Amino acid sequence: MKLKTLKQIKNLKDKRVLVRVDFNVPIKNGKVQDDSRIRASLPTIKYLLENDAKVILVSHLGRPEGMDKKLSLAPVLEKLKQISNFKSTSLEDRFPIFNQLPIVNLEQAKIAIETMKQGQVIMLENIRFFEEEEKNDKKFAKQLAKLVDVFVLDGFAVAHRETASVSGVAKYLPAYAGLLLESEILNLSQLMIKPKKPYIAVLGGAKIETKLPVLKSVLKHADFILLGGGLVNTCLWAKDYEIGKSLLNKDFKKEALRLWKNKKIIFPVDVVVGDLKGKKYRVVNLNKKNEIKNSEAILDIGPATIRLYTKYIKSAQTLVWNGAMGYFEQKPYDIGTLSIARLVASRSKGKAFGVIGGGETIQTMEMVGMMSDIDFISTGGGAMLEFLSGKKLPGLKALIK
Ligand code: 3PG
Repeated sequence: MKLKTLKQIKNLKDKRVLVRVDFNVPIKNGKVQDDSRIRASLPTIKYLLENDAKVILVSHLGRPEGMDKKLSLAPVLEKLKQISNFKSTSLEDRFPIFNQLPIVNLEQAKIAIETMKQGQVIMLENIRFFEEEEKNDKKFAKQLAKLVDVFVLDGFAVAHRETASVSGVAKYLPAYAGLLLESEILNLSQLMIKPKKPYIAVLGGAKIETKLPVLKSVLKHADFILLGGGLVNTCLWAKDYEIGKSLLNKDFKKEALRLWKNKKIIFPVDVVVGDLKGKKYRVVNLNKKNEIKNSEAILDIGPATIRLYTKYIKSAQTLVWNGAMGYFEQKPYDIGTLSIARLVASRSKGKAFGVIGGGETIQTMEMVGMMSDIDFISTGGGAMLEFLSGKKLPGLKALIK
């Protein structure tokens, strides 16, 4: 897939550039908890500023219904100022507008943009405060387009959303991919175009329904897919295993049974069952179908499964991981997921091309302190899965050459 990219814009001097970023980050007590998505878009912002453009940042935060102060981007703007280290460069004095609060309405934005100088940044307030955003309202998209000269989509994590500031506005302006988006597409495409073999995928997560499309697509390229997490429960239930109180989706019985027939799909051979508080737990071998009691739930993969998955991961030349292996928020059910995190990281950089993505996956990789061992960390959760499912992301349509 060839995209029109930021560096192909000929003359950025004085151009007003609308940059759709994804700064949808966790915030607690007015403070950003994880700034990785903000950091990931810094190269694009920096490039534009160094080329004397005027940068207008647009993002969403959470899923507000109308205006909701709790979902203001003010803490994000604060964080951006802290980490951007633009301060240490000569660009410092060109940032007066950057110090304001995010801009709340388009009229205000128009005035601010009119008075902007080259090399300045402003940020609009949470774009989902406008109901037109998620409706992908044409009039609203046109209004946004009128404010600027060029559109850049940098927020890969939101590229799967058909909304006014993602796909809508791109129809009315010259539109380009930012540096983050470009790098995401380049790296994730490597998993789909002639990946080095053996290609091993590890897929977990709670719900089978969200993982089925990606499973189908990854199966076309991967040699083996190792399964974990709640999605396995539906598969076990479909095969007549007793699964107690485990999370389950009965609508996907047929699909689950089909997975068992596929030799590329590797299922756990044992699981950890217990109560949600982690007080009572035990390992259950899956060679018998009626071992799990009604009062128990499946909450992690077991030690024999970790040993089995280790063999596959250690053989990989290409490795991708998305989704927790169990209820990692509660000890001791974190063992499976943290083991997979360590294994994937140890095999990456040099031995295999290792890619991870998704909020929980990244969170657990951070927990084991091995983020820097991974070759590529996608900022996209849903977007990464949809891209790997082979779906055409709405945000990319206007950017394709
Ligand atoms: C994400 O965090 O996956 C993106 O920011 C998209 O958010 P959404 O699922 O609320 O559209």
